[in-house]
Amino acid sequence: MEKTGAVTTDSSAEYDRIDVSVLVIGAGAAGARSAITLAEQGVDDILVLGKRNHGDAHTTWARGGINGALGTHDPEDNWAVHAADTLNEGHFLNDPEKVETVAKQMPDRLRELDEWGMEYSRTEDGAIDQRYFGAQSFRRTAFAGDHTGESLLDTLVDRAQDLEIPYRENVMITKLLSDGEEVHGAVGFDMDSGDFVLFNAGNVVLAAGGYAAIYNRHTSRDDENNGDGPALAYDAGASLMDMEFVQFHPTGMAVDDSDPDWEPWSGRLVTEAVRGEGGRLYNSEGERFMERYSPDQMELDARDVVARAIAQEIAEGRGTDNGGVYLDISHRDAAFIQERLPRMYERFDDLGVDMAAEPVEVAPTSHYGMGGVAVDEYGETDVEGLFAIGETMAGVHGANRLGGNSLAETVAFGAVTGDRLVDRVDGPGAVPADLVDEVAEPHFAALDAMASREGTYDVMEVVAELQELMWDHAGILRDESTLQAGLQRLSELREQSADMDVGPITSDSFEFAVDIGFMLTAAEAVLRGAAERDESRGAHYRTDYPETDPEWQRNILFEDSDIGGMRTDTAPVGTPSDAVQTALDEGHELDYHQLE
Ligand code: FUM
Repeated sequence: MEKTGAVTTDSSAEYDRIDVSVLVIGAGAAGARSAITLAEQGVDDILVLGKRNHGDAHTTWARGGINGALGTHDPEDNWAVHAADTLNEGHFLNDPEKVETVAKQMPDRLRELDEWGMEYSRTEDGAIDQRYFGAQSFRRTAFAGDHTGESLLDTLVDRAQDLEIPYRENVMITKLLSDGEEVHGAVGFDMDSGDFVLFNAGNVVLAAGGYAAIYNRHTSRDDENNGDGPALAYDAGASLMDMEFVQFHPTGMAVDDSDPDWEPWSGRLVTEAVRGEGGRLYNSEGERFMERYSPDQMELDARDVVARAIAQEIAEGRGTDNGGVYLDISHRDAAFIQERLPRMYERFDDLGVDMAAEPVEVAPTSHYGMGGVAVDEYGETDVEGLFAIGETMAGVHGANRLGGNSLAETVAFGAVTGDRLVDRVDGPGAVPADLVDEVAEPHFAALDAMASREGTYDVMEVVAELQELMWDHAGILRDESTLQAGLQRLSELREQSADMDVGPITSDSFEFAVDIGFMLTAAEAVLRGAAERDESRGAHYRTDYPETDPEWQRNILFEDSDIGGMRTDTAPVGTPSDAVQTALDEGHELDYHQLE
């Protein structure tokens, strides 16, 4: 990595310039894992950028586990059944090749994490323990209590530090440098000093998360998952895919919003591990309602099924006072709960609720965007040198994701993309002068002008309106007229976003003012895709088209056209390999009653 020094532009915005062969944007599990592969194979001219302090990324909020067919308890499990479960849950909109890559990689990736010191929960004889997670035929979800993401990221950060991988914290990337055919780096600013930075890089790995936080009730950190990754790639000329598929996790915290102790927890994740360890759902009439919706798979049916069941109970008047249903694991011993679900137990205990003695209240919440950037089998987009991995990429999860497959995807594709890049790296390249003059410098000038701008609209109010719009118009249940009204309202918000009152460059309001641009792109794609897909499939449920239409076994692609804005196209999905087709034909599925 070479620092060229400060540059002054004609438009008077100064910036630092840094030359590097591979720029990794995002310091969560996917970004860290890709950099580790590169460093292990001798590529040291890497720079990993994070928006927060080192070791603090959204991965730390991932809780219940990470999938891989180790067969600790169920030796019949294997990678092909893992792939078959993933395709079934994705309603066959997943790219079978990417699904196989993840399923085949995972046993090795899990063992490697063990060698690097990951603090897995273990069986009595010391093996990596595995728990039930929804819609999976076998116990396949490895875990570290209910803080699996934190343990995973700690392990990867330790490994990255051992390998002395360069890292820069508190940097926000605002634009990629691309001519639409090839990427040449990125620009952004240091969130502490406010200084602008141009990164000249021949290869860029986008590992910047997804877009679940464009909804007002969500499990993400408020300043993450606002669509940065997909929107940066789209702006650079890459296509997005499957954006209409947003996973609503069945169990977000349902709280009394007027109580200041509880209000900040509204929508926060109550891990699926609570149900994986035996937690049961009850409505306000004391009925274990999943018996009506899914008698075989019960609380561990697919997330979309359980989320819609809860939403229906609430809509039909069988919800709690706080707009949820009850999740009860009090039939398990306190010691068991404290060992298997320590963070959940502590959180509720701090709020005065003893999970070992009483139920908690839960309701669906936006959790994960299955869509993202369209990439090839190595994670490369159709812009040469630009890769997208982790939640930023599309293709692995299709119409709905298995719990535990997001962490799996981060380390599997992190390794695949890292490997691919090893042969491609040949120095930082040279960002073309016209990209600097016509893209980077005007962009810095625009950011400079936005800082401390006086405008009519409050940044956080625009964010809140956009999130509310998405919940109301593209939520668990959708229909044509609501979606079209949402698109109309979105264009009004786009106009407001050009007239906002913004703070200085190091302020939260500036960060969110930049985020709003990303959120608008992601929101438009979700609404357009959901309006175009006139069927129901997985997490996308159209009340006016409640059936799955075989003709729609196609992915929707979103492209930026020079004229007329966002354009959509569709493409067919691939076919599974013989091994996976055999596993599909064998008809494996979870039987909830094994848990009892
Ligand atoms: O509920 C959970 O612990 C979530 C896991 C996941 O989304 O993979």
